[in-house]
Amino acid sequence: MVSNDRDFLLKIAQNVRKNAHTPYSHFPVGASLLTADGHIYTGCNVENAAYSVTCCAERIAIFKAVSEGQTHFNQMPVVADTKRPISPCGACRQVMAEFFTKNTTIYLGNLNYELLAVTMADLLPSAFKSDDLSI
Ligand code: THU
Repeated sequence: MVSNDRDFLLKIAQNVRKNAHTPYSHFPVGASLLTADGHIYTGCNVENAAYSVTCCAERIAIFKAVSEGQTHFNQMPVVADTKRPISPCGACRQVMAEFFTKNTTIYLGNLNYELLAVTMADLLPSAFKSDDLSI
């Protein structure tokens, strides 16, 4: 891993954003995800003519990683062309809460290099968790 992980991961998120499939919103988003063992997974949003089956960049990165057996994550930068740093949707926050710990840092960025470092508790306080299931 290179010395400045955060900037390297941000660059990767910016690059994967170029692969976003956004013919409907024209709003490409890129995300990268650093696992605890140093692997990097990427995601961009993939839209569909049936709008509701669109998947966000964050969820694609997380699902790719989990489907490869990764469940421990250290950092996740997300980038879009927004005035303020991108704000992940509620569905992505819930998916993040399933896997991220209080030590996972989510970097919310834009193309003007504005960057906000937030925690899972900042993004989704009182998240519904497996402990809440009565099974
Ligand atoms: N989107 C993301 O990929 N991540 C976010 O954090 C916010 C929204 C996508 C979903 C859709 O393809 C487009 O941005 C517009 O909502």
